[in-house]
Amino acid sequence: MDLGKKVIYQIYPKSFYDSNNDGIGDLRGIIEKIPYIAKLNIDMIWFNPFFVSPQHDNGYDIADYYQIDPRFGTMQDFDELVSKLKDINVDVMLDMVFNHCSTENKWFQEALKGNKKYMDYFYLRKAKANGELPTNWQSKFGGPAWEKFGDTDLYYLHLFDKSQADLNWHNPDVRKEASNIVNFWRNKGVKGFRFDVLNLIGKDENLIDSTDPIEEKKLYTDTPIVEKYIKELNRNSFGQDPNSITVGEMSSTTIEKSIEYTKPSNDELSMVFAFHHLKVDYKDDNKWTQKPFDFMQLKQVLSKWQTGMDQGDGWQALFWNNHDQPWALSRFGDPINYREKSAEMLATTLHLLRGTPYIYMGEEIGMINPHYYSIHNYVDVECLNAYQELMDAGYSAHEAFNIIKTKSRDNARVPMHWDASRNAGFTTGKPWLKPTDQTEINVENELKNGEIFTYYQKLIKLRKSEELISDGHFKAELLDHPQVFAYRRYLDHSSKQLLVLNNFYGYEPWTDIPTDLQGKKATVLIDNYGTKDCITMPDSIKLKPYQSIAFKF
Ligand code: GLC
Ligand code: CA
Repeated sequence: MDLGKKVIYQIYPKSFYDSNNDGIGDLRGIIEKIPYIAKLNIDMIWFNPFFVSPQHDNGYDIADYYQIDPRFGTMQDFDELVSKLKDINVDVMLDMVFNHCSTENKWFQEALKGNKKYMDYFYLRKAKANGELPTNWQSKFGGPAWEKFGDTDLYYLHLFDKSQADLNWHNPDVRKEASNIVNFWRNKGVKGFRFDVLNLIGKDENLIDSTDPIEEKKLYTDTPIVEKYIKELNRNSFGQDPNSITVGEMSSTTIEKSIEYTKPSNDELSMVFAFHHLKVDYKDDNKWTQKPFDFMQLKQVLSKWQTGMDQGDGWQALFWNNHDQPWALSRFGDPINYREKSAEMLATTLHLLRGTPYIYMGEEIGMINPHYYSIHNYVDVECLNAYQELMDAGYSAHEAFNIIKTKSRDNARVPMHWDASRNAGFTTGKPWLKPTDQTEINVENELKNGEIFTYYQKLIKLRKSEELISDGHFKAELLDHPQVFAYRRYLDHSSKQLLVLNNFYGYEPWTDIPTDLQGKKATVLIDNYGTKDCITMPDSIKLKPYQSIAFKF
């Protein structure tokens, strides 16, 4: 299995396609759209959770890990989906949420009844002697990370919503449940697993107060036992299949840890998601702020991770978008004046890097943040809490709304735009989240008149045929250039090289060519302006607005 040749597509089932018009996307809807998916030639699809869940956090609060939630379909639908995707050579990656489970899960319900076995599945603690909560930790969705445990004098830990109780990984029974679940789905033909916030499972048994928010994260992030338990999970489940593909979602992690999690000799994971490149538009490390993105920082972060992971034999999941992020095109591109060119530039930048690229549904047609005019259009628990907190902190409703507009996770969760009709062809019922801008941006229009989709097809094809892309090392170039992100890919065993130039702006910067490549003959591997195939490299090149061009030597 060659990780470097794979491309993974992400589907948020709730928003892909609604087959029975109840306003919620479903598995049969995905089956109906397989012909569309087949056009892209991707290798695997990561599905966000569709297990039984009360949906307080859109399925990341799992009440039954072994059943499909009826709103998404049945086990039969799932089996059919897996087999029909096999027919087009696409494997399935499921989302395993093991840091926490829903408080409606039978484990938690049994615990509430006083069943000792299950009480030990969770972090239950007494209040401090002075009556304060067991620790001063904050939930990532706002408010304290502790909630009263039934009628007892205990509290349970929840790093996310209070409906998501953290699981106690020190308990071998909990770890056994996790490997049983993975093996259950493996038996159904599932080859890929994405592990939700996996580096948070290693909280200490002895929980203590933090002194500040940064130190607080360190108390429960990337602790040494995380690796120990990943190794165990690997041995007892997916590691038994040499063709499995795994990715750990790693909150606030480091390059050093990510190398350990992914280097093949460690038998942990195939790759990790890290998020530092998506924080370059945060003010003071705070998501709920507004700031134009810092291009120099973006370049530095991406280059540092590429170089570090390459040198340490680690492997990265490459992504701009997912169901938790506002659209990259709205953040780092120009959706008004150069929607197509900037979408293609972002795609090129990412797809020619070292790692395994992920495409989030809708990215391939250049979807952008929706234009909502009221806070009532938003539904995500995280952003609604943040809205309240911003108002409590003294922001006006208008200011708070503008922040939500650029940062809410609902931005990317908007239903896929299939056509220009009222609900974007997603449903004839009332969509659970409202689409906007579908008259211009939709699949039908894109396939007929657009250029982004075909450009993605080209990038995917190139990764499969070009060793420089799938296996090459990474070297950053022109790190000081204020508009252009440039890098080189090269191999140990040949003199072939790739030089990739990406203009992140709507004007036309001059770009110096590294001296060792000047005067050499190069072929143009890909160019979103489609210039000629073969050139002799000049000393410098003037790039067009949002142009991306890759030269092969
Ligand atoms: C991950 C998921 C996110 C979810 C959170 C808690 O970050 O991607 O959607 O809310 O974990 O499970
Ligand atoms: Ca439905």
